[in-house]
Amino acid sequence: MRRLTVAGIRHEAQLREMLREPAQSLRRGGLVAFPTETVYGLGANALEEEAVRRIFAAKERPRDNPLIVHIADDAKLRDVIDENQPLHEDAVRLMRAFWPGPLTLLLPAGARLAPSVHPGQPLVGVRMPDHPVARALIAEAGVPVAAPSANRSGRPSPTTPDDVVADLDGRIDWLVDGGPCPIGVESTVLLLEPDCARILRPGGVTQEMIASVIDRPVLYAADVFDVASAPLAPGMKYRHYAPNARVHVWWGEPEAIDEAMRAFLLEAVQDDDLMVPALIAPDDFVRRFGWALSDERQAVLPADTYAEELARHLYRLLRAFDGAGATDVLVHGVDPTHGVGAAVMNRLYKASAGRVRWVG
Ligand code: TXA
Ligand code: MG
Repeated sequence: MRRLTVAGIRHEAQLREMLREPAQSLRRGGLVAFPTETVYGLGANALEEEAVRRIFAAKERPRDNPLIVHIADDAKLRDVIDENQPLHEDAVRLMRAFWPGPLTLLLPAGARLAPSVHPGQPLVGVRMPDHPVARALIAEAGVPVAAPSANRSGRPSPTTPDDVVADLDGRIDWLVDGGPCPIGVESTVLLLEPDCARILRPGGVTQEMIASVIDRPVLYAADVFDVASAPLAPGMKYRHYAPNARVHVWWGEPEAIDEAMRAFLLEAVQDDDLMVPALIAPDDFVRRFGWALSDERQAVLPADTYAEELARHLYRLLRAFDGAGATDVLVHGVDPTHGVGAAVMNRLYKASAGRVRWVG
């Protein structure tokens, strides 16, 4: 695997010049990991079946889980969606409002796409990422880029270049290092149905943001906050975002969270001396909590921006706590009805296999 560092560079012409080699590799069938505003993607030429199959092999990804196609400009839409079907006017509104950005729209798939991009699905997920490195790489490659998250299947998504190295070194051609990803959780996946728009996976573009642009109701798929329901997005049915440690989440009234988490920890250390706990919580909680774990197993994030910070650091922390030998990760939750909170709580539901306690 060759590694190219472009972190901090934002100037498009300069980036395109620097990214010539990995872009050429991408165009010719290579596998290139690259940063987006959400998480690192593992890219291949979406028009080349052979290249797309290599993604599934490198990630050990189930073959029935479709990929998102990334484009850098509107003109490339023609290469990925079915031109014989008129674009839905709400799809156009959403593209205008949120592209480039963390919104994936499911649209009728075009005939030129490699079949493995959307196995058994008439629709293909399309998004235009809002990250200067991703945009320059895709523009320079000149082809639409199929890219799932650049992790081994089932592991937390990679939000730093080192996470990509840990999962995929030796299996891919290039890693473009653009530093840590600013959002930290994957894009919103949206399905336009006749009477509503359905969020199959919450992400950086929120329910309120979508509802402000289109008239039909914007609903969540049943499995978003419930591990027992069957997911509509094939990828959501697999064990996901999960570290080796057990994850436990609390949300509700602040005092009740304090009490429930303290009780859990006390009981756990008394009954089970094999438990090695790790904690993710806002700073005001940790002050009230009066319980300090060792630094390598404790993440204290600023209370006033907790939801955004949790989104940005969650996957990295889950990986780090595994490395530090934690058996149980205790997470102070966030409000799922507000902003990026829906995406964070959805990933926590999946990562914890449903161990989310509502208290107070
Ligand atoms: O932020 C992101 O979306 C990142 C970056 C790299 O762009 N990509 C990403 O891809 O998260 P991936 O493959 O890890 O997740 C794609 C999700 C899966 O849950 C998949 O099942 C769903 O989108 N999906 C893709 N195409 C679909 C389709 N045609 N129908 C239903 N679900 C689809
Ligand atoms: Mg993924």
